[in-house]
Amino acid sequence: MSNIVTPKAGVVGWPINHSKSPALHGHWLKRYGLSGEYLPIALAPDDFEAGLRKLAKRGFKGVNITIPHKEAALNLADSITDSAALIGAVNTIHFHSNGTIGADNTDGYGFIQNLRQNAQHWDAKSGPSLVIGAGGAARAIVWALLDAGAPVVRLANRTRIRAENLANHFGAKVEVVEWSQISEAMDGAATIVNTTSLGMAGQPELRVHFDDAPQGALVTDIVYNPLITPFLEKAQSSGLETVDGLGMLLHQAVPGFESWFGQKPEVDDDLRHAVLNA
Ligand code: ATR
Repeated sequence: MSNIVTPKAGVVGWPINHSKSPALHGHWLKRYGLSGEYLPIALAPDDFEAGLRKLAKRGFKGVNITIPHKEAALNLADSITDSAALIGAVNTIHFHSNGTIGADNTDGYGFIQNLRQNAQHWDAKSGPSLVIGAGGAARAIVWALLDAGAPVVRLANRTRIRAENLANHFGAKVEVVEWSQISEAMDGAATIVNTTSLGMAGQPELRVHFDDAPQGALVTDIVYNPLITPFLEKAQSSGLETVDGLGMLLHQAVPGFESWFGQKPEVDDDLRHAVLNA
């Protein structure tokens, strides 16, 4: 008789059918020849806590958490990493063998790893960052840029009060700039990021110019459909280095996979194709 239990993990959201995470983790399980399962799990907000605890009882090692549960997951965790606490949201849950629930946020890690992998000379410390948008994704990215040593983060959002709230949360290194002044705020910037949904297929584009950005600036976008957004296209036309947003999604999945299935997975072109074609 075998005592070997197939490790189980998944992604919890509502709805869940659009999630790319099953294809992502499924690709890695196959590639490394691991026995394991990674399942999409739909839980409505009212069923979230009970549903999550049931998964723990059913032997799940952990789950990724997506919309709309990323904040709710903070409230039921027994332990919370600094990144999840400071970002104020959770994307990775660990069910520990002693029955406790650990909460982490690897979105900021994924953002930084994507830039480190694809723009090897990039260094957050080398100048101010400009972050466009002040939603959930922006919170993770502002945290990550400050953690990586950005001296200042300039923050622009259509709804100014959301940018001010985020700036107040992170302190004096975050400076709010006017939505109408985005192009000017690129002056001297080392890192320029779009965290809004503008530029996504079916959405209007983010209308900016890169005339004031220094030649060494790195430009990136969290939108990955299309891979090259009009924002990135314009930056490339101005001669700037760009990194697309798909790698953030891929890299944020690494710590969960490693912890649940015991293998640190690679982010490479095969994985990109598998996820894009899913
Ligand atoms: P997420 O968690 O993915 O960041 P979100 O919290 O809904 O999603 O945030 C979406 C971001 O895109 C916000 O910065 C939003 O600006 P507002 O705070 O002003 O809503 C920005 N955004 C979405 N549509 C926009 C538009 N048409 N013009 C400008 N900004 C837009």
